[in-house]
Amino acid sequence: MNDLMKPENYSFTATAPSNIAFIKYWGKRDAELQWPANDSLSMTLSACKTITTVKRIDGDRDVFHFAGVTVSSDVEPSHKVFRHLQFLRKELNIARALEVESRNLFPTGCGVASSASGFAALTLATVAALTGHHEWGQLSVLGLSRERLAHLARRGSGSAGRSMFGGFVHWAAGQSADAQKIEQIAPASHWQLADIVVILSDKEKHTSSTNAHQAAWGSPLFPARLAGAPSRIEAIFSDIKEHNIESLGQEIENDALEMHAVAMTGTPQVNYFLPETTKFIAWVRSERLAGNLPAWFTIDAGPNIHLICESRNVALITAKIKSTWPKSQLIIDKIGDGPTLKQGLLSESHSEVHYV
Ligand code: PMV
Repeated sequence: MNDLMKPENYSFTATAPSNIAFIKYWGKRDAELQWPANDSLSMTLSACKTITTVKRIDGDRDVFHFAGVTVSSDVEPSHKVFRHLQFLRKELNIARALEVESRNLFPTGCGVASSASGFAALTLATVAALTGHHEWGQLSVLGLSRERLAHLARRGSGSAGRSMFGGFVHWAAGQSADAQKIEQIAPASHWQLADIVVILSDKEKHTSSTNAHQAAWGSPLFPARLAGAPSRIEAIFSDIKEHNIESLGQEIENDALEMHAVAMTGTPQVNYFLPETTKFIAWVRSERLAGNLPAWFTIDAGPNIHLICESRNVALITAKIKSTWPKSQLIIDKIGDGPTLKQGLLSESHSEVHYV
């Protein structure tokens, strides 16, 4: 066997989509262990994804290439990517330096979480490069089931754990950090839903979600949010089961507004809304009441709006937005099947997501 054929020299490529939470993960019981304060539930996206290739290299420093910039772990050891590589090596007990090349197929700052897709893809490709295995079945035999991989990914960024599965995904907080569960509750084929992201600002958010998660504990509204979370999860489970878009829509709007109310009343207060955010959601509600817009909003840690709707209504909703808000920039995505992992580089091409 020549050197190039040795498994340790293979590179492995993962693609992982972002996800949009219908019930937001907001607040952590334990920041180090990434133990959330409440259960969350999301829809995995399809087009907005990260592609990451990882290979073992000689030496003792890691290298990371992203968007034309190269960083090395001896220069920036506290970089989130290098911290995650270090964590994965420790978990797997395999000490090898790694080279990582990553790109997002969607624009940064567009309101789609790149940390979810980024840490899911990084986890998968790194685990494959360290173990030399890329088949889900083989990984499972090694104790690296998809759920275990999801838990490894959430240690990089909480919401990344949910991106390890396609379709609708539930992240249960459990009674202890070790009792957390991440599982698919229905595949993408169960219900064709879409996410139309309305970009109101592409500026970087002023407060990282890490800081805002901490600030939630200071909000007088937080205990009420936590008390209501279990019944909301139950309601969303049955809405998904029954394809009840009206009820699902009400729940996700209430959940997003509640999360932002907690953020706005936290210590310190964190306001992600822009004046345009409020204007746009008022428009969505009045158009919907008038029977013209079968779409419901949700908003992550930023000012941009995700409109959730049934896929068959995307053209109608897009045309309606464009006619009222001609300067708006939109990203159109839909529910998807989750991540992929293979050996080598990607042979098929993946198209970039563009503004509509
Ligand atoms: O994964 P983090 O730490 O960036 O937190 C994500 C928080 C939200 O996107 C606002 C909600 C969620 O559940 O995805």
